[in-house]
Amino acid sequence: MSVNRYYKTVVAASASAAVVLVALAISSPQGRADDPNSDEAKIQQGFAIAPVPLNLSGRNRALVGMGSYLVNAVGDCNGCHSQGPATAFATGGNPYLLPPVFSGKKKVNPATYLGGGNDFGPLIPDSAHIVSRNLTPDKNGRPEGGNSFSQFLQILRTGVDMDQLHPTCHGNTVGPNCVPFPFNGALLQIMPWPNFQNMTDNDIRAIYEYLSAIPCIDTVITGELQLRNTCK
Ligand code: HEC
Repeated sequence: MSVNRYYKTVVAASASAAVVLVALAISSPQGRADDPNSDEAKIQQGFAIAPVPLNLSGRNRALVGMGSYLVNAVGDCNGCHSQGPATAFATGGNPYLLPPVFSGKKKVNPATYLGGGNDFGPLIPDSAHIVSRNLTPDKNGRPEGGNSFSQFLQILRTGVDMDQLHPTCHGNTVGPNCVPFPFNGALLQIMPWPNFQNMTDNDIRAIYEYLSAIPCIDTVITGELQLRNTCK
């Protein structure tokens, strides 16, 4: 191909790419609730499904709504971060049960919502129990134990346990406060961070913003340390 023809081909290709980009920009779904693919549709759905009252003062509405969507429709955070299956739903609101014990209307229990304390048991007998943590805000309004957004981002990306609740046991010894080799006690176990780490920064930001807007629950999560969330 002559240089000239090559040049024309490139120009033609970029021109058609430009047309496609302009067309995409014009039909961009951002911000249109009537378009089922738009962020706004997810944000509105997020507000509709939030099982607790939200404190929006000083918060970004779009992030809170999107965060609710990711927490309550996609991530199933409460499936593990409530106290456990017995109390995750309000009386009559447990959809896993038969009627009339199940009233027909699902209702999450606000008293345990994201308050942590679900005991998954030890990874091998006699080692540390893996217990889900409290994700609700503390008295300063920061979620899950008062972590900043950059710490939260690091936790979801790397699985690091900033509270160091259960170090790896030394050698062959096993005890109630450590996780056995070859489990890495510096990292969160059971928590699906290897999956959540694939989210965009903005989605993780939205989850953080939502977790800041939910009501505080005061629980103590025990391990080598006693993790207490203080609401006042
Ligand atoms: C399959 C169960 C499961 C699901 C689903 C789950 N988690 Fe977890 N998560 C855990 C467990 C268990 C721990 C504590 C692990 C440990 O102690 O090793 C934990 C720990 C965490 C921590 C660390 C808390 C801290 O104080 O450092 C954060 C943050 C967290 N989860 C956020 C979330 C979010 C946000 C979601 C939903 C998007 C979610 N988790 C969904 C089980 C789960």
